Amino acid sequence: MSSVAIRVQNVRKVFRKRKGVLRREIHEEHALNGITFEVREGEVYGLLGPNGSGKSTLIRILSTLLLADGGDVEILGFHLPEHEREVRERVGRVSVDAAFYKKLSARENLLYTAFLYGFEKTEAEQKALYILKRLGQDASRFDDPLEEMSRGMQQKVSIARALLVNPPLLLLDEPTTGLDPKSKQEVQRFIQDLRLREGTTIVLTTHDMDEAERLCDRIGILTRGQLVAEGTSEELKFQAGADNLEEVFLKAVGKSFEEVEEATVE
Ligand SMILES: Nc1ncnc2c1ncn2[C@@H]1O[C@H](COP(=O)(O)OP(=O)(O)O)[C@@H](O)[C@H]1O
Ligand SMILES: [Mg+2]
Repeated sequence: MSSVAIRVQNVRKVFRKRKGVLRREIHEEHALNGITFEVREGEVYGLLGPNGSGKSTLIRILSTLLLADGGDVEILGFHLPEHEREVRERVGRVSVDAAFYKKLSARENLLYTAFLYGFEKTEAEQKALYILKRLGQDASRFDDPLEEMSRGMQQKVSIARALLVNPPLLLLDEPTTGLDPKSKQEVQRFIQDLRLREGTTIVLTTHDMDEAERLCDRIGILTRGQLVAEGTSEELKFQAGADNLEEVFLKAVGKSFEEVEEATVE
């Protein structure tokens, strides 16, 4: 039996925002309302959910960028927040909002990461080029400032950066959103490859149901900070009595809206 790579128990996150004309009112946004789930080593776990359902918040907590307000998070045997450093060394995160130095080139950004992690320059450079090539990105643009690159190219550089350190766990926040069909396919193929060749554990968020079905061993559906359904795509379809994943998604999300409405009426 494979062991557990991610164990999340009853995780909660509340954002406090100032509202009103004088910004005196404090509004509490419950981004995560007690999330519990596990991801096994070598598994690809998909997180689906409408905008604002808490996917990125969860990914950011798992990658140590954000502190949970409650609950328990264990990554590859290390507890957060106590073992933040150990987790950070083992986790790669890819996100559209990933911080880059946009005036610097892809090469410079990647070498900076390599430097931070204490990697040898030439080796890191070769590896980055290799990953970009496998992602269908030729090296001719390697020295262009990132701000001059298309979103797809930036996303590929972001993937290359996350993989430089050979992380056993990869967190991909909408890795294919906004990409053209070819780039999308290249990224998807790369994810499949990575899992097969390296046995990397992967958590990915997506709005693409086909992608979730093809890439993920199991899928969790998040709505309003709660995990409302979980299983393989076959299990989810069976549970929901649905023909396809889109129907599962709409049912799961719709149901939770009804529940919330009922709760507020009472
Ligand atoms: N840094 C933040 N400050 C305040 N509210 C936030 C912050 N990040 C996320 N939120 C809120 O938390 C909720 C979940 O957001 P997010 O995790 O980004 O959702 P998703 O990735 O599923 O679209 C949203 O209501 C969002 O407005
Ligand atoms: Mg998001």
